[in-house]
Amino acid sequence: MSGPTKSARELWGGHFATDAAPLMERINASVGFDKRLWAEDLRGSRAHARMLADRGIVSAADRDAILAGLDAIAREIEEGRFVFDPKLEDIHLNIEARLTERIGEAGRRLHTARSRNDQVATDMRLWVRGAIDRAEALLRALQAVLIDKAERHAADVMPGFTHLQAAQPVTLGHHLLAYVEMFGRDRDRFASARRRSNECPLGAAALAGTSFPIDREATARELGFDRPMANSIDAVSDRDFALDYLSAAAICAVHLSRLAEELVLWATPQFGFVVLPEAFTSGSSIMPQKRNPDAAELVRGKSGRVIGHLVALLTVLKGLPLAYSKDMQEDKEGLFDAADTLELCLAATAAMLDGARFDLARLRAAAGLGHTTATDLADWLVRVKGVPFREAHGIAARAVRRAEERGCQLDELEDAELAAIDPRLEPAVREVLGVDRSVASRTSLGGTAPVRVREAVAAARARFLGEGGS
Ligand code: ARG
Repeated sequence: MSGPTKSARELWGGHFATDAAPLMERINASVGFDKRLWAEDLRGSRAHARMLADRGIVSAADRDAILAGLDAIAREIEEGRFVFDPKLEDIHLNIEARLTERIGEAGRRLHTARSRNDQVATDMRLWVRGAIDRAEALLRALQAVLIDKAERHAADVMPGFTHLQAAQPVTLGHHLLAYVEMFGRDRDRFASARRRSNECPLGAAALAGTSFPIDREATARELGFDRPMANSIDAVSDRDFALDYLSAAAICAVHLSRLAEELVLWATPQFGFVVLPEAFTSGSSIMPQKRNPDAAELVRGKSGRVIGHLVALLTVLKGLPLAYSKDMQEDKEGLFDAADTLELCLAATAAMLDGARFDLARLRAAAGLGHTTATDLADWLVRVKGVPFREAHGIAARAVRRAEERGCQLDELEDAELAAIDPRLEPAVREVLGVDRSVASRTSLGGTAPVRVREAVAAARARFLGEGGS
């Protein structure tokens, strides 16, 4: 039995006479970051070893030695005793070298009918599948917080904006449920990414398949994949699963960023719509009055990283010929960072929102500012007086101009002033100029009326949280 393997070159046998240049080692080694794949790598190797023995490619005794060795390595890594060596390039060679060091000859048989190309593709798919499941659970928890808030604020009015100009009054619950829909689509994107990516590359070997009588169905099944990948060249070349994850993550990060931006804006003294929990804000070392929404700002800012990692991997892959190229090793750091970032932002957003308190009086006062019920006035002329909408729009615009001249709100115009604008503007119109009336009237499907919002809350619980409903 030979001594411990000191470099990847020894594993390759006699082909290389010289050592890797130190700079080669630095540019080539990935173990510094791909050690995160250790659990997936062990899982894949266990499945491979069992299959090799079942097909008579290695003996049962070798299989047992391999499985025991892999278990021992798992303990070494868990307990921080494993030495990751950059000379052994990546996590795959580090584990294989250690296995051989521990169990000798049998360790050298594990790599039969396998290449690092199908091995790394398998490990990465397993890892991404875990990341998808974590994102899904965090998104669900965030939706639960939003749905609870939406229920509490189903009838609380606030200004709705377009162009960030006061547009029409809406209910706060309705506004929050908009995000529930966005995060619901994110969950769906992750779920569809999972469906597409849950196929097993193992057994593709370097790129062409293998001459050994392997059982790809068995390894796919043991690893929880739906099926083996159909084409061995595709199996080792494809990184769509990483792109799928990153695109879903980037879109989700953009949604989080938009929500964070609203919280930043709403938390200013000028808006004063929301008070963020102190635990998610910071003070200023010079301005004693400041309470800065740092967590929300960072959620907004970190979306840039997630988007960047998607663009980076697209760029890495765009010129690559089939099959494997080492460029593909560049898939890892960005992917890991995107997942870490997204998971942190999802958790922080849920916690920050959970502790946020809305200033309902401020929201109500702001809801009517900027003549937000001008559309209601026009709609009243259409409904009650049979005025064509375009003409009614013009009359309402004149009423707004009059109110602006007087520096008052629409419902503060005198009867005579209204009549002077148009004789059909009878005092009864005043009824529709209040913000509560306005939101209560918007009962169309998907509209902002409190009755609709309460229905939407119940529907969202059934659709997204699997609660109640039928
Ligand atoms: N560390 C490599 C990666 O992450 C593993 C695959 C290496 N394959 C090879 N033929 N050198 O992509």
